[in-house]
Amino acid sequence: MKTDRRLDCLVAGDANADLLIDGIAQLEFEKEKLATHMKLVLGGSSSIFAFNLARLGARVGFVSVVGDDFFGQFVEERLRWAGVDLRALRHRRHTSTGLTIWCKKGGQRAGITYNGTIAMLRARDITDHDLRRARHFHVGSYFLLDKFHPGAAALFRKAQTFGLTTSLDCNYDPAETWDSGIRRVLPFTDIFFPNENEALGLINTRNVEHAARELAKLARIAVVKLGGRGALVCTEGRLFRVPAVKARVVDTTGAGDSFDAGFLACFLKGGSLEAAARAGAVAGARAVSAVGGTGAFE
Ligand SMILES: Nc1ncnc2c1ncn2[C@@H]1O[C@H](COP(=O)(O)OP(=O)(O)OP(=O)(O)O)[C@@H](O)[C@H]1O
Ligand SMILES: [Mg+2]
Repeated sequence: MKTDRRLDCLVAGDANADLLIDGIAQLEFEKEKLATHMKLVLGGSSSIFAFNLARLGARVGFVSVVGDDFFGQFVEERLRWAGVDLRALRHRRHTSTGLTIWCKKGGQRAGITYNGTIAMLRARDITDHDLRRARHFHVGSYFLLDKFHPGAAALFRKAQTFGLTTSLDCNYDPAETWDSGIRRVLPFTDIFFPNENEALGLINTRNVEHAARELAKLARIAVVKLGGRGALVCTEGRLFRVPAVKARVVDTTGAGDSFDAGFLACFLKGGSLEAAARAGAVAGARAVSAVGGTGAFE
């Protein structure tokens, strides 16, 4: 069959807007409080990843579901601005795009999320044609994507059969069962990107090196993100650490997605695992230095 690999990476997953409100420590019913600042930014783990990977120079396509409303248009506008190919983006009529409102005061924040279209993506929304256009396939926020779980393993398997490499970021499991069929997906995953808590939850251990070694028996490469302590990489019994890059922390939203983007931008250009992990740490440090998940990549 003819292949047309115009994209370095096809990204599938969640997309939403984040409304950041500053200066509100507590809300009270029947009272109105005045915020000091507000900013509407691109949210969603997978959409932040797609935006930042495109800004790092990769050719990126994005499959997700947005509603036919202002926030859906906003998400599209931001991704288009970053140069992301949106021809496979799905629109759900009469449905609201997901929105998170973050109230921040000092270093603390509280969020309210309306899920809307966030978890509506199904595995069958990613067509053979979409896959055949790309060299690599990445899914973010796996645990959030309820409707995606049933066909996920078959989709990852198909992607590899079509010659793509694959990667997966699970993010936090709101159900805290650490299952949702992910163990059936990992054998078809080249690079798995959990953070420390997620890795510990998945393997049910307190030892992160043990978790990384066990995860690297399921996926080909396990990359465990350790926040301000950098990351652990494990593959075929070999384990190494990369330190974090020093940063002035403004907002840690999207640090993990940015690490994934930095890692893959290097890896997809043929970089070694060590070079890719260092590039991930550079992108993670860059992300925490500005407001929002994409602020440092604009
Ligand atoms: N305070 C920090 N200073 C420097 N680098 C950081 C800092 N926090 C995070 N990073 C970088 O970003 C990477 C990813 O961060 P983290 O481990 O918090 O991922 P995550 O929990 O998946 O994030 P997210 O909340 O976006 O899902 C880290 O591995 C590190 O390289
Ligand atoms: Mg994460």
